[in-house]
Amino acid sequence: MPLLGVNIDHVATLRQARRVNVPDIQAAAEAAIAGGADNITVHLREDRRHIQDHDVAQLRKNLKVRLNLEMAVTEEMIRVARLVIPHNVCLVPEQRQELTTESGLDVQAQVSRLRSATKKIKSKGIIVSLFVDPDPVQIQAAKQAGADAVEIHTGAYANAKDAVGRALELERIQSAAQLARDLGLILNAGHGLNYENVRSIAQISGMNELNIGFSILARAVFVGLEPAVREMKKLINGPAAREE
Ligand code: PXP
Repeated sequence: MPLLGVNIDHVATLRQARRVNVPDIQAAAEAAIAGGADNITVHLREDRRHIQDHDVAQLRKNLKVRLNLEMAVTEEMIRVARLVIPHNVCLVPEQRQELTTESGLDVQAQVSRLRSATKKIKSKGIIVSLFVDPDPVQIQAAKQAGADAVEIHTGAYANAKDAVGRALELERIQSAAQLARDLGLILNAGHGLNYENVRSIAQISGMNELNIGFSILARAVFVGLEPAVREMKKLINGPAAREE
């Protein structure tokens, strides 16, 4: 059964709407952990639109579970990672105007740059993952770049217009997952996963961890964060867990 990483960026989005100190990020992380989160994920964006540097430092100091830091491949972010030393780093592409991370990294086009970044981060004992589309070329390139893990971008699957498109995207993810496993990479996935579409991804053999943010936070508005995480965890764990 895959682990669940809960991305709490949008707790900070709400806080930054008023630039105050509520809702409290640490309390949100603790509620997610109480609901069954195996890691807490935050994306420190270059424009600091939600998570701030002090959030990352505070979470690293106080969290009882792993901290997974998503970040762009820049000198500034590599410095932050080497200073804070989260358990995991997920390198992502970043564009200023995007609403969320819209595609995977083009690893193939920048293997040596990513190899150098990965090496600098790994030298602090941090597990490095590359966020990639379900494309065999990118998975192979992630291996060449020295990554420990890949996080397969499930956005195209989540956004598929109909059942046929969704099935095709699921097949692409399944074969990319198989390749990642064959190459000895840790296999993670995320983006756009929700209570309706998570099961097929959770059932992929060898799936280590799913990272989910928006759908859990959207549900939390109505039921609270801890129950929203618990519901997701039950779906990931499968029908047997649901009957408990
Ligand atoms: N994984 C990565 C690398 C991401 O950038 C994001 C979005 O921040 C997620 C997972 C979570 O996506 P969502 O918020 O759609 O669940």
